[in-house]
Amino acid sequence: MSDLRTDLEATRAQAGKRLAAAATADAVEGLRHELLGRSGTLTALLRGLGGVSAEERPALGQLANQVRRELEAVIEDRLAALRGADLEARLADEALDMSAPGRPVRVGHLHPVLTTLRDLREIFHAYGFEVFEGPEIETEEYNFELLNIPPDHPARDLWDTLYVAEPGSIEAGEPRPAADGTILRTHTSPVQVRAMQALDAPIRVLTPGRCYRYEAVDASHAFEFFQVEGLVIDCDTSLADLKGLLEEVARALYGREVATRFRPGYYPFTEPSVAFDIGCLVCGGSGCPACRRSGWMTILGAGMVHPNVLRAGGFDPDEYQGYAFGMGPDRMTMLRHGIGDIRLFFSADLRFVTQFAEGR
Ligand code: PHE
Repeated sequence: MSDLRTDLEATRAQAGKRLAAAATADAVEGLRHELLGRSGTLTALLRGLGGVSAEERPALGQLANQVRRELEAVIEDRLAALRGADLEARLADEALDMSAPGRPVRVGHLHPVLTTLRDLREIFHAYGFEVFEGPEIETEEYNFELLNIPPDHPARDLWDTLYVAEPGSIEAGEPRPAADGTILRTHTSPVQVRAMQALDAPIRVLTPGRCYRYEAVDASHAFEFFQVEGLVIDCDTSLADLKGLLEEVARALYGREVATRFRPGYYPFTEPSVAFDIGCLVCGGSGCPACRRSGWMTILGAGMVHPNVLRAGGFDPDEYQGYAFGMGPDRMTMLRHGIGDIRLFFSADLRFVTQFAEGR
């Protein structure tokens, strides 16, 4: 039965060519199935051995086995070669050029006012102050009454207030302040009372935060701005302590050479009250437009905590006293960098803020 021999030889030759031409490992696996699988070509031929005469069978059987082993070997070789080539291709494809220049990453940084706030925190930290924060949405009671500013006191005019409207009153076309006295705080001073109510003496806190006023916005006025308030409560602190501290802080902020002076001031929640000036940073004291020709710039207000405010905070004025001060970090930042317009701080203009990357 040389038919079987012919078929075996033909399969061997054809399969060899097809395997050599198979371009992917998947194609080779497909051929393996087609040739050697349960119903594959070679398997069918091997079954045909049963019908072969006894003298031809050993030689044909041997040939059939040889062809199968050959094909198996070719298949393994081909798979190994293709997989190797695959890997080569992937390595070439995914190669990293270690010498390529990096792509710049845009890194954020602090807003210049926040840098000033951090600097203030650090300076005051050295004098034992810790940060204590209060709410931006306040009540008239904390913003005014407990700070010794009764409802009809003319000093309220100093703090033009943004009121939260009574629910429904806007829709009704008659907006009026909420009956529960909810407002946006006009300064950080209400946090003095909150700190006194929450903490025991001695108290040394710094209370930075946003404030809001009903202001006509211009180059030096914004309706939202920052304040940093300081409060010290103890048995025997004095105006001398306040002066010494503020002079040291001014030197830390503006350099050892900075000139300073205190003037009488007025705030309902401090008695006596002072204004604290530094020598003009622009002209050095000789007088220029930036200091309105006075040679001085006011950087904060301060004073000894009024007895009524001590009482509101739960302290007996016969036993305790304290001092408080409030400053404007927006203005301080403007002085620091020679920025002429406070509106730039809230403009969200990247051309402006990206100039202050030192606060990283
Ligand atoms: N709260 C005052 C203001 O807004 C500043 C201040 C704070 C003055 C603390 C004295 C003491 O102008």
